[in-house]
Amino acid sequence: MKHAGGWARRSSVWRLAGAISVIAVAVVACGGGAAVDGPDAAQAALAAQGRDIFRYDTFGDEAQWTDALGLHEVIAAAVDPVTALSVGLKVDAEALPAAVVAGIQDGSVDLKDPATTVALLKLNAVVGVRGTVETVNGVDKLVRVGITCALCHSTVDNSFAKGIGKRLDGWPNRDLNPGAIIALSPAVDAATKAALNSWGPGKFDPRHNIDGLSKPVVIPPAYGLAGIHRITFTGDGEDIAYWNRYVAVAEMGGLGTVLEPRLNLSVTHGSEDLVSSKLPALQAYQLTLQAPPAPVGSFDPAAATRGRAVFEGAGKCVTCHSGSTFTDANTRLHPPADSMAEPESPSYAARSATRQYRTAPLKGVWQHAPYFHDGSAATLDEVAQTYNTRLGLGLNAQDVSDLAQYLKSL
Ligand code: HEC
Ligand code: HEC
Repeated sequence: MKHAGGWARRSSVWRLAGAISVIAVAVVACGGGAAVDGPDAAQAALAAQGRDIFRYDTFGDEAQWTDALGLHEVIAAAVDPVTALSVGLKVDAEALPAAVVAGIQDGSVDLKDPATTVALLKLNAVVGVRGTVETVNGVDKLVRVGITCALCHSTVDNSFAKGIGKRLDGWPNRDLNPGAIIALSPAVDAATKAALNSWGPGKFDPRHNIDGLSKPVVIPPAYGLAGIHRITFTGDGEDIAYWNRYVAVAEMGGLGTVLEPRLNLSVTHGSEDLVSSKLPALQAYQLTLQAPPAPVGSFDPAAATRGRAVFEGAGKCVTCHSGSTFTDANTRLHPPADSMAEPESPSYAARSATRQYRTAPLKGVWQHAPYFHDGSAATLDEVAQTYNTRLGLGLNAQDVSDLAQYLKSL
């Protein structure tokens, strides 16, 4: 009877899951028709490879999340699925076998038991978190945990339940509280824990572990970046791969090297490089991610048409938000004062490689409130009003409201 409790605690997930066979789904390049060899097919294959990296690759960052921070032990001991969902983690419903889905629905899968979290990790169903689970004497043990890009830059459509659904790659996870998650680590001192816990959901400070300062920025979308050759809020890199290398090594703790002379930064983790060879595919995938169109009925089309005239006329927005991606990023960056979030202390621009800001691209802007790099404007109406006041544009209430409707339509 020694193991009876263990089996009971592990609920019905494993016995049922074992009966379900896994069906491999072939990834078919979009377009449908007959597959042809050539540059397009090669590009599609590269992007498909990049999708897997974006979703599932940890670059060996278990060294940070497991060996240094010990988060696998915290998860196994204390993080049941209800708690995991409450700090913004998402569950990929498509990774759940039918029997598990049924178990969640009829309550036989216990969402208040950390063992269920381990079971979900074993199914690779927690978006952006990779667990290595070993079964010893019939008992599952979480031995390694690492994170992927999808942790911050994917969410789910909530089609199954809140926090559980189909993946939406590129959509920022504005529910995720990375600071609170890292603060769970027993290896973090009290002062750092206090700083991490002050960040709040949807925000992360990707400079904190470099310069020691603490002022987070909102997690931005990873979609809608095709044709834009200044990456990050401050335009630090000319292509996505620049920043992907930085974040994979310096933030996620992946194995490899990042050098940034402008920040006097040189970080190497490990003796092998698990990052460099993946960057071309990772970038190719992100370039396929388009900004989602505004849902029908989410804005007033007549007001948006009037708002466009304000955007291009009296509002002078188009002087910076120009072209099809609504940014002049490819020709210039802007002094800190051009950001409506400045002055702030510490200034985010001052902590960056360029010390300037990139005009934010606006495709899909309806999707990712709050706005500006620090999230200081809660809505697009607030954005429009802030510009009107700060720049003395002299727009009336109707113009401001129309302008916001136009922004919601992009
Ligand atoms: C812990 C959360 C987190 C993780 C994990 C993460 N990012 Fe980010 N990402 C951010 C934040 C915060 C920023 C904003 C930084 C800035 O612009 O200064 C950002 C910026 C970006 C940008 C720039 C977007 C733009 O508008 O220019 C891209 C692209 C991106 N991340 C892709 C990735 C990829 C690919 C990975 C995996 C290698 C990754 N991120 C991992 C939080 C994260
Ligand atoms: C002088 C150049 C400039 C002008 C003019 C300008 N913007 Fe911006 N805009 C920026 C910059 C730079 C940012 C990024 C600020 C930040 O994140 O701190 C930005 C950010 C934004 C954002 C936030 C996007 C996001 O992802 O959070 C919106 C929305 C926006 N601008 C709309 C407008 C509207 C509407 C107007 C006209 C009333 C306007 N802008 C005029 C340069 C400009």
